[in-house]
Amino acid sequence: MEKAVSVTVNGRLYYKTIPIRMLLVDFLRDELNLTGTHIGCTYEGRCGACTVVVDGNAMKSCMMLALQADGRSVVTVEGLEGFAGQPDSLHPIQQAFWERHGLQCGYCTPGMMMTIFDILATNVREGTPELTDESIRRLLVGNICRCTGYSHIVEAVQVAAERLRTMPAEERDAWFDVAKLGEVRS
Ligand code: FES
Ligand code: FES
Repeated sequence: MEKAVSVTVNGRLYYKTIPIRMLLVDFLRDELNLTGTHIGCTYEGRCGACTVVVDGNAMKSCMMLALQADGRSVVTVEGLEGFAGQPDSLHPIQQAFWERHGLQCGYCTPGMMMTIFDILATNVREGTPELTDESIRRLLVGNICRCTGYSHIVEAVQVAAERLRTMPAEERDAWFDVAKLGEVRS
């Protein structure tokens, strides 16, 4: 059985008719060709490689039907660069990963970044919870890095958080303003 859905992904509205049992991760990869969202544990919800942000919350897209994203806003790793208002500017999270070598093979990286996006969206604006290295490791417990590069990932999160915290509020908010992605892509 199929059903029509409309989903906003990275600021662009898509209308598709899809099988009702299609998972969000397959919708993103196979229907929209957004292959930055990875599958690392064969749809078991254990690795976090498929993490995307749905209406502001990090979600494992292998644990969600595409149908459940109907009428909602999804941000994938491909969307991160759009927040600057220019399609080719790195998000502070991406910049920090690059500077601090927060990746090795890169397989877990898109999911890591989308979880971190959710963490920092709250943390740098509200200042809680305090981001210690230990709390970052706890917050990333759902994202597994098989290359075990956790020290560099934690360091990258601290660098991105500090950079965002010290920006003027308007500039900082723009890095999390999903509506802005629509302006960039339209
Ligand atoms: Fe979704 Fe592993 S593919 S958690
Ligand atoms: Fe290889 Fe994380 S960088 S799995």
